[in-house]
Amino acid sequence: MTDTLTIRRPDDWHVHLRDGAMLEAVAPFTARQFARAIIMPNLSPPVTSAASAAAYRERIMAALPDDSGFTPLMTCYLTDDADADDIATGHAAGIFTAAKLYPANATTNSAHGVTDVAHIMPVLERMQDIGMPLLVHGEVTDGSIDIFDREAVFIERILEKLIETLPDLKVVFEHITTEQAVRFVDGAGPNVAATITPHHLHINRNAMFTGGIRPHAYCLPVAKRELHRLALRKAATSGSAKYFLGTDSAPHEIHAKLSACGCAGIFNAPYALESYAAVFDEEGALDRLEGFASVHGPQFYGLPLNEDRVTLEGGSFTVPESLNTGGSTLVPFHADSELAWHIVQA
Ligand code: NCD
Ligand code: ZN
Repeated sequence: MTDTLTIRRPDDWHVHLRDGAMLEAVAPFTARQFARAIIMPNLSPPVTSAASAAAYRERIMAALPDDSGFTPLMTCYLTDDADADDIATGHAAGIFTAAKLYPANATTNSAHGVTDVAHIMPVLERMQDIGMPLLVHGEVTDGSIDIFDREAVFIERILEKLIETLPDLKVVFEHITTEQAVRFVDGAGPNVAATITPHHLHINRNAMFTGGIRPHAYCLPVAKRELHRLALRKAATSGSAKYFLGTDSAPHEIHAKLSACGCAGIFNAPYALESYAAVFDEEGALDRLEGFASVHGPQFYGLPLNEDRVTLEGGSFTVPESLNTGGSTLVPFHADSELAWHIVQA
């Protein structure tokens, strides 16, 4: 008998949909599986105002068929000059769901990010007052800190103090990669949660160096040691409402990945739910997939649960080596490898 699993339709609480031709190429993959997604604002130039977020939301909807049923949830890219009034007005108007803190120069298109959290304290206080979530890329940018330690040092230097100063601010620690992050989130109040990507559940840092350098396994925050991957798997499958699905799908054209200075980002949107299902199956926790994928996120954001369902079926398939779509060649996560579950009814 074939194994099947039917769950509420999931949401993706962290995705890069890009813009222009790339947006057209990648948005359908996300909309096929997810009802809603938190859309990252690191475009060039970044989405820093309610007006630019509203315009971007229109472009996302225009890239999808009219009956996609998909809802993009927009975010504001915080800069040193972030405007608390515009952010609060945009939130009240339903344009901004959350705001994103990129430490300046931490990752792709973060040059306009925040140079010191002290500069945006009035904005963060306002967000605390109105219950608007802060999404954090949690890595220090100090070049003297080993790249594998930048998340743990960010917790010590920035995050602990921030939560102490603003104890009621809703914070999502994005794409966590370390056991230190798991410990921090577990020990914090219910207003602190985290997203976990499929790739950080599947790979450790060896994946970047298996038989040679492997640019498609490079993302930020960079994958860490095996002990961290195991801590993430435990957290994701624990049933704790503090952890939810956020793919951090971050497509880059193949030439930008395969370069002397290749871009950070793993494109996992095409088979994201299948990728998570494999992890939960391996951990004997398929009964907890729905909580992680479809319940904890909306609960944290104070949004209704999706009412329709998605069905997965056991039975392996091979992920394509690459996807040629809309003039782009993109290499998906798990390229040329097998995944044990597939969506039968999206
Ligand atoms: C993201 C991108 O390419 O926009 N890259 C990545 O490796 N995750 C940026 C980010 O989320 O850090
Ligand atoms: Zn991201």
